[in-house]
Order: sequence, then structure tokens, then C-alpha cells
Amino acid sequence: MLILGLETSCDETAAAVVADGRRVLSNVVASQYELHEEYAGVVPEIASRAHVEKILPVIRESLAQAGIGLGMIDAIAVGNRPGLIGSLLVGVAAAKSIAWSLGKPLVGVDHVHAHLYSGVLIDEGSDVSTSRAIVASTFPALGLVVSGGHTSLYRLDSWIRITRLGATIDDALGEAFDKAAIILGLPHPGGPNLDKLADSAGVNDRLVQFPLSRLSPSSLDFSFSGLKTALLYEANGVPGPKGKPAPAMTAARKADLAACFRRAAVDTILLKMKRALATVPAADKSVRRTVFCGGGVTANRLLRQELQALARGPDDLHLHLPPMRFCTDNAAMIAGLAHELLSAGIVSDMTLQATPTTSL
Ligand code: KG4
Ligand code: ZN
Repeated sequence: MLILGLETSCDETAAAVVADGRRVLSNVVASQYELHEEYAGVVPEIASRAHVEKILPVIRESLAQAGIGLGMIDAIAVGNRPGLIGSLLVGVAAAKSIAWSLGKPLVGVDHVHAHLYSGVLIDEGSDVSTSRAIVASTFPALGLVVSGGHTSLYRLDSWIRITRLGATIDDALGEAFDKAAIILGLPHPGGPNLDKLADSAGVNDRLVQFPLSRLSPSSLDFSFSGLKTALLYEANGVPGPKGKPAPAMTAARKADLAACFRRAAVDTILLKMKRALATVPAADKSVRRTVFCGGGVTANRLLRQELQALARGPDDLHLHLPPMRFCTDNAAMIAGLAHELLSAGIVSDMTLQATPTTSL
């Protein structure tokens, strides 16, 4: 089955063709980085206008790269929630038009749930038999999404039954990375640039011990605003009558602070992952527990290393960590998850709405 997926929830216009829910035949992403750079963040109106300009060329390119015509598509999937309303509307309108004109099924997909699916995707040409099968005994599984808009832990009982266990109560992790990058004077996109700086030779990621937000002892929620403020004070000095000035910001200090921030942010995620693992037991004791991860911040080098180390540890986890090209927003994950929804008989119709909020 061939599914054309569309993704326009934020500042990436994307289209992809995925076969049988796993094999990515094409994955085209038109990024809007340059358009938003001077504002150091995404401007919704600029984003939706750019989607309108890009959506048709991106769809054409995805079909061309997959080597197929539109008539060969079996279904159209679109990320219809959550996201910027004006951006979502472009993808939803395009998907509805194609589905209606071809008489093919339309499937609305939750973008955050689709991030969880991104570690399951494989490139065309890879041997499907060597990729780990996602079978009934895979579930219940634990899910982690760390993106620019979301930081959440999930219990997955199937690809259809996804329950949120915890979420950020303030900033998402990617947002915290982006704001930390602004504090350190790094260019947009902040997260990847801070990650790169933190990897500089000779950095000291123990220069400052930033606070880790634990919240209540059993909480699976996250908070990153305290960490962000701690970095602000470390970089610019503590304000107020009892304040103290900051040491001069040298290039070496900037790299050290980036590394300390990244270390604290990643440690916070790992702390909550370990708590969450205790709440999601394996249904079958003979089967290793599975963890699905996704979202832009899974591209972070330290987070990837730490998640891989966790998987190799005593918990002995099956970790589905997306390859770099499927970490950030893409339409292959939308088409992939749509295959699971369709297989379960879940189809949308022409009343499908663009919805800014997530489906929990
Ligand atoms: O998943 P995504 O593309 O969009 C949302 O759904 O939000 O995630 C984008 C976020 C941005 O905040 C970006 O700075 C962050 O992911 N990000 C990173 C890295 N690569 C992308 N954050 C830290 N380290 C990275 N290497
Ligand atoms: Zn995303």
C-alpha cells in the first residue's frame, strides 16, 4: 500500500511516499529557516504563506523521487494536529483536495504521535526482514517525544491506543534549547547550534551544576524554565540588590555553558525516562521492553548517546531512535502512522479539521 503523507504543522513543508507503513520511497522537506532567522523564531503568518507557495512543488517532488504518479497512491495522510492553525490548514486543504479528486481515503494524523513512529521507518532498499518487527508483543511500550513544541512521555498499548503519562508544564525541550541558544548569542536554529558548540574540543560540562527539575517524586511531567533562568543568570549575572555580576563571556566559557546546559537538559530527560520505565511493565516477560522516541531534539548528540546507553543497561531495551533525517519534522512519519490507522479501520472524511491542540 502506498500512502502520500503531508506535513505543514509549523515551519517545514513536507511530503513523503511510504510503502506498507515502513519503507520510505521519498521524503521531501522544504525548510523555512531563512525566512524566520531574522526574528529568531517562527512567525506564524510568514510560515503559512510559505506553505501555500511550497506545498504543490513539494508534493510533485515527492512523487517524482518515489517514481510514481498521483494515481498510484492508495491513501492521503496529513498531520492535522497539533500545530500553528494557519500552517495546518494548508496541509489539510491540500490533502482533502487530493483525496476528493482521486476518490482515495483521507487519514488525519496527530503530529506528536507520528514522531513516536519515526524510529520505525526504513529507507527504500533496506532489507525489511532485518528491521525489528513491531508485533503485538511489542506493546505496551514507552514513548518519548522531545520537540520544539512538546516534551511528553507516553504509554503505547498499540499505535492506536496512546496514553500520555506526563508532559512539560512550561517550555518544551526544543524551545528551551532554542532560548538557551539566544541567551548565548547563537544563531537560529538554536538547538542544533548549541548542540554543536557543546561538542567543541576541550569543553568542561561540569563548570556549572545547573538544577535538574524533578517536580514531585513520582511526577512524569517536565519543567525547563528553571534551567533556562539558571543559564540566563550564569551568562548575564544575577539581577537585584543581592545580585552578582557574571564573569566575562569568553568563547571557552560560552562553549562550557552550552555543554553544562545540554548536560542538565539531557539528565532531566533520562531521570524521567527511568521513572516512566517503572510504570510500563512488559506484557510478556520474555520480550524486551520497547521504547519509541522522536522529535527534533532526538537529533541531539548527547541525548542519543544517553538513550543508547540506557537501552544497553540493565533495562535491556529495544530502542527505536529515528535516524537523523526522521528526527525533525517530516511527512514520512505521518504516512507511516497513517498506515497503522488505516489498517485499524480509522479513516477521516471531508469534515477533517485542522486543530491546534494535541489529541493527548
Ligand atoms: O520536531 P521538530 O522538528 O518540530 C516540532 O515538532 O516542534 O523539532 C524542532 C526542535 C527545535 O526546537 C530545534 O531547535 C530542536 O528541535 N533541535 C535540537 C537539535 N536539532 C533540532 N535541539 C537540540 N539539539 C539538536 N541537535
Ligand atoms: Zn514535530
